[in-house]
Amino acid sequence: MSTEEIDDVRKASAEGFASADQIFHPSTDFVQKARVQGLDGYRALYERSIQDLDGFWGDEASQLHWFERWSAVLDESRKPFFRWFVDGKTNIAYNCLDAQIAKGLGDKTAIVYEAEPTEAGSASEIRKITYRELLSEVCRFANVLKGLGLKKGDTVAIYMPMVPELAIAVLACARIGVIHSVVFGGFSAEAIRDRVNDASSKAVITMDGGYRRGKFLALKQTVDEAVAECPSCAHVLVLERHSGKPDPSCQMKPGRDVWYHEAASGVSSECPAEALESNEMLFLLYTSGSTGKPKGIMHSVGGYMVHAYTTNKYSFDLRGDDLFWCTADVGWVTGHTYVVYGPLLNGASVLMYEGAPDAPDFGRFWKIIQDHKVTIFYTAPTAIRAFMKWGDDWLKKHDLSSLRLLGSVGEPINPEAWLWFHKNVGAERCPIVDTWWQTETGGHMITPIPGCTPTKPGSATLPFFGIDAAVLDEHGNETDHGILAIRKPWPGITQGIFGDPQRYIDTYWNRWGGQYYFPGDGAIRDKDGYLWITGRVDDVVNVSGHRIGTAELEAVFIEHEAVAESAVVGVKHELKGQGLMAFVILKSAFAGKVDETDLAKKLNAMVDAKIGKFARPERIVFVPDLPKTRSGKIMRRLLRDISEGRELGNVTTLADPSVVEAIRTKFQSAKA
Ligand code: PRX
Repeated sequence: MSTEEIDDVRKASAEGFASADQIFHPSTDFVQKARVQGLDGYRALYERSIQDLDGFWGDEASQLHWFERWSAVLDESRKPFFRWFVDGKTNIAYNCLDAQIAKGLGDKTAIVYEAEPTEAGSASEIRKITYRELLSEVCRFANVLKGLGLKKGDTVAIYMPMVPELAIAVLACARIGVIHSVVFGGFSAEAIRDRVNDASSKAVITMDGGYRRGKFLALKQTVDEAVAECPSCAHVLVLERHSGKPDPSCQMKPGRDVWYHEAASGVSSECPAEALESNEMLFLLYTSGSTGKPKGIMHSVGGYMVHAYTTNKYSFDLRGDDLFWCTADVGWVTGHTYVVYGPLLNGASVLMYEGAPDAPDFGRFWKIIQDHKVTIFYTAPTAIRAFMKWGDDWLKKHDLSSLRLLGSVGEPINPEAWLWFHKNVGAERCPIVDTWWQTETGGHMITPIPGCTPTKPGSATLPFFGIDAAVLDEHGNETDHGILAIRKPWPGITQGIFGDPQRYIDTYWNRWGGQYYFPGDGAIRDKDGYLWITGRVDDVVNVSGHRIGTAELEAVFIEHEAVAESAVVGVKHELKGQGLMAFVILKSAFAGKVDETDLAKKLNAMVDAKIGKFARPERIVFVPDLPKTRSGKIMRRLLRDISEGRELGNVTTLADPSVVEAIRTKFQSAKA
């Protein structure tokens, strides 16, 4: 493209913006190479995708390998249980590996891995795994799984640190049609147990341990505690973090536990990929909802694959020479779609880092970017706010010039953090894609397309191709400030909640008479049609990008003999985006008779044990009562007002308006 043509595209993208917000236009470099030309190009392709969903997604699917082609792109007859690429036979691991090798990428680096420890002579490790090597490892792993008697349709839980073997385990399951249920390494034994039991997982894959912030965490011990109460789990397959040097505390239970290296010795590194019908289940991933019981979100083989492939390609403008680093853990959906599946489906090189951003110091991420020449860096607003707090000097010590694109995900990004990211990490050169999506959506739903979409700090901008988004009020009327809703199905949409189809309908499809998917987020649409996600509108709190149901914590507290009732709310938090504030009423036999500091410690320890440390509330305040309406509903809004030091909203519907003052007094005195 000539310089004039590029300028024309950039100018056209800049025109027609009504709002006075700060707008960042596509950089020349991106416009020059973009797959879609400018905002007009985006709008034209978007229109086409919405008018012809089958055509758009069918074209994308055709770029992947299918053992047998589909008979229909979309079957809506069982709405809201949509079926994509009906009768199509494929395998996502085959598409991630064999198909790339067939394209000549066998010797290309698939995964660049860096361990957390850095001290000389320690476990410091950098590994580069090519597509061909990855295929061999995945096949060997798949054969080991088969050797344990696992077969298509079985479910297996995976509880591992962020090491390449985690990606290998996931891909091995996918290759033979075993459903993986990855449990984030920060979850407790009880949380693992509940997830294994809910899905009747037949095995757990784990590692003796892994590193986090300089500490070795003995994961296998946590698994031992969990599976003691998991009748379905016949095997625990254990990998070694340090080859030949297992963690001495790791106990192997004969008959149940199997060392991976022993089981894999002499096992073939060839294993055919199962041809799976597109709508068979690829994985289960548990996420919090507004009840105490986490939901097993199911994803399909074919639809999910097409969504992961297409979004990774367009939203990150992935190119052959990119080194893509998504900092999310594979224990969350972002790690599934944008660490493992999306980048490999696009034949990219992906970076995996085992540990924390502040180990051994605050410069670790910048050093990684510099050392490996990362080109695309996708992280979370919580991390960005921590980087801001740690100071710009850590960045200045490193060369970040390899970066060309930045991404944000997991929670609304405040404009201040966006601008800091843009200036200090992106050197005012790299576009930022603020991508809105969820575990249930499988992949990006609202996101800028770099090179096309002018961006505004804090806005996820416009819907991805094929995503029909609306902002509605409670009654289903379009509005500028309301609730986000999605009208048409998309390929990555969840297949529902494992074992509870009705809960899926009730949670996501009952709000507007079954016509729209309800994601649980508020949204504003500005004069330019840009979407600004305002946060959850249900009882789910997004703490550092981790979804936690307030009911989950309340269910933990009520198990303590002294607790009569509790209410947990999400409140603004400078670093975490949102924090949890717990208000607890004690039974009369205990009120005034227990040491509150001590009891708070015990309740926190219960949260650690039942969910995981990351779910601990900021504070636990013991109160005489909770603000309730006459019908007994807790008015959480008032608890949020008290926690954030605001004037109280309307209290006339309270059964006893004096309660709020008593809570406020207790809240403030406990604070002092
Ligand atoms: O509230 C939204 C928020 O994270 C929720 C989804 O959480 P989870 O299923 O754990 O997936 C996180 C990674 C996709 C959403 O309902 N969220 C995610 N991305 C954004 C966001 N909120 C605002 N802006 C985003 N970019």
